[in-house]
Amino acid sequence: MRIASTALPLAGLLSLAGSSLATNPNGTYGCAALKDNIPNSVFERNSTVYNDESNNFWSNTEIMSPECVFRPESATELGQAIKLLRGSNAQFAVRGGGHMGIRGSNNIDGGVLIVMSKLNTLKLNDDQSILHLGPSHRWGEVYSYLQPYGLAVAGGRLAPVGVPGLLLAGGVNFFGNQVGWGCDTVVNYEVVLADGSVVEVNKDSYPDLFWALKGGSSNFGLVTRFDVQTIKAPLVWAGSYTVSEEYVDDFLKAIATFAANITDPKTHIVPALVPTPDSPTLASAILFYDSADTSYPEVFKPFTDIPVYASTLGFKTLSDFAQELGQMVVDDINDIFVAGTVKGTTYDELYQGISIINSTFFERLPALYAQVPASAISTIQLDWQPIGKLWLEASAAAGGNALGLDSSQVYLAYAEVVEWTDSQYDDVVMQWVEETTDAINAATKSAGLHDPFNYIGDSAGFQSIFPGYGAENHQRLVTIAQKYDPNAVFQSLMPGGFKVFDN
Ligand SMILES: Cc1cc2nc3c(=O)[nH]c(=O)nc-3n(C[C@H](O)[C@H](O)[C@H](O)COP(=O)(O)OP(=O)(O)OC[C@H]3O[C@@H](n4cnc5c(N)ncnc54)[C@H](O)[C@@H]3O)c2cc1C
Ligand SMILES: *[C@@H]1O[C@H](CO)[C@@H](O)[C@H](O)[C@H]1NC(C)=O
Ligand SMILES: *[C@@H]1O[C@H](CO)[C@@H](O)[C@H](O)[C@H]1NC(C)=O
Ligand SMILES: *[C@@H]1O[C@H](CO)[C@@H](O)[C@H](O)[C@H]1NC(C)=O
Ligand SMILES: *[C@@H]1O[C@H](CO)[C@@H](O)[C@H](O)[C@H]1NC(C)=O
Repeated sequence: MRIASTALPLAGLLSLAGSSLATNPNGTYGCAALKDNIPNSVFERNSTVYNDESNNFWSNTEIMSPECVFRPESATELGQAIKLLRGSNAQFAVRGGGHMGIRGSNNIDGGVLIVMSKLNTLKLNDDQSILHLGPSHRWGEVYSYLQPYGLAVAGGRLAPVGVPGLLLAGGVNFFGNQVGWGCDTVVNYEVVLADGSVVEVNKDSYPDLFWALKGGSSNFGLVTRFDVQTIKAPLVWAGSYTVSEEYVDDFLKAIATFAANITDPKTHIVPALVPTPDSPTLASAILFYDSADTSYPEVFKPFTDIPVYASTLGFKTLSDFAQELGQMVVDDINDIFVAGTVKGTTYDELYQGISIINSTFFERLPALYAQVPASAISTIQLDWQPIGKLWLEASAAAGGNALGLDSSQVYLAYAEVVEWTDSQYDDVVMQWVEETTDAINAATKSAGLHDPFNYIGDSAGFQSIFPGYGAENHQRLVTIAQKYDPNAVFQSLMPGGFKVFDN
């Protein structure tokens, strides 16, 4: 049993990043065993499927050199593969939508890349209350399937993002103030366990595992189907509301005003600052209101009272809105996300937390621009995700999850995003964001506003996740992983992603 003592869970992995370790005897044995037993689902180097699948990642930083691609046609076939890979001691990685932008989290040099592309169930049950959802999908496909029924689910906000990684991380979603995290709406998981068996996991069959899958990421099994509750949402009022640099302070006050008083469950916001090296900073908030007939609700006034620079607010379908937001995503970039959290209960505390993050981040930007030319930076963004009482009470009412947030607090989960176009700046950017994050967290700690929660979906490889869920939840996750995976297959043979055994 491996209990790592490092504070940097993926440090070992990251150090492999630049090396040329593209073959590994066990990977070769693993691919051969798969080829012998499940030949139609294994794809060797240079085949069309191998080339397509091994390049199908969100950020260039994720591209690696797997020995073969395994693309199961069913959960049973995936279970059979897990047994064969264990027999060969071959390491593997699993990729759903490929949006975890961390090298080695969903891909592997010299091992087996398992892709979920054929596990593509997408079907409503008879009374349309539950969507059976395979891990192949992107949220855009899901919303466009549901739109004719006037239905939605609590998934990602941008159409291109993948289903499985998001639901296993938690799932920040438009309906959070009604239903909690996306994972809180999952009523059943079909899972391939470490011994290769396929089980249906729900609150009655395996209550401990059911809880652990809600925020525990890839530590417990490979999910081959999610059964999620649907939400009626034929039309929503939503868009991006953008204001210019002179109003940044008003904008930051609007975030705190909203966060301190989230009383309307139909609301959701994603406020962001978007600095650019050569032009003034813009401040832009995604404003979302789950209503087919109310526009400019009172609760958004702190934002919409600020003079507008650009706005896309209007009535639209969720499917169209997720596509609209998806347009902001640029393909073929190098990317890093970093997560952190401040918390408070009053406007003053929340405003102070936001302000410290803002000031620390902007003070450090010249150091980034000094090392990376403006022409090589495609996006910089700093955003804040408010998560308060309505959201966390909805989570609790649904049975709870592993994330460990407390409904007496309002959390602002912040994310720093940097995207650049040239891999020669990978190390420089990584170092800059790590130092910037340390500086932000040191400042929020000394103000007494820091919370150790790092949202997996926004976290970088150098960050620690499970201690931030609280010691009790972390220990419970370790115990559940040991129970369902006594040989630690998902800790060691599948090295990628955030591991509950790491600190
Ligand atoms: C542009 C962009 C927008 C985003 N928007 C949101 C948002 O609105 N809300 C939000 O919560 N998050 C958001 N995220 C973060 C997102 O939740 C994560 O990137 C998430 O990992 C995406 O899921 P995926 O299937 O694409 O990930 P992948 O990279 O495929 O997988 C992530 C991790 O889960 C593992 N995994 C994948 N499939 C399975 C499976 N079936 N069973 C077990 N383990 C598996 C992988 O091995 C990997 O470790 C966004 C990210 C990006 C890049
Ligand atoms: C793949 O193709 C490249 C270029 O055509 C070639 O150099 C390489 O040897 C091939 N690899 C395999 C494993 O066939
Ligand atoms: C390969 O497998 C052998 C046992 O079969 C094991 O001892 C060794 O550590 C494995 N190597 C890697 C790199 O996984
Ligand atoms: C909270 O928001 C509601 C609108 O949703 C508003 O009526 C109320 O005055 C606000 N309370 C405070 C303290 O700002
Ligand atoms: C946010 O940062 C900018 C740039 O450093 C600064 O001008 C502004 O005053 C800051 N606002 C707050 C509220 O911290």
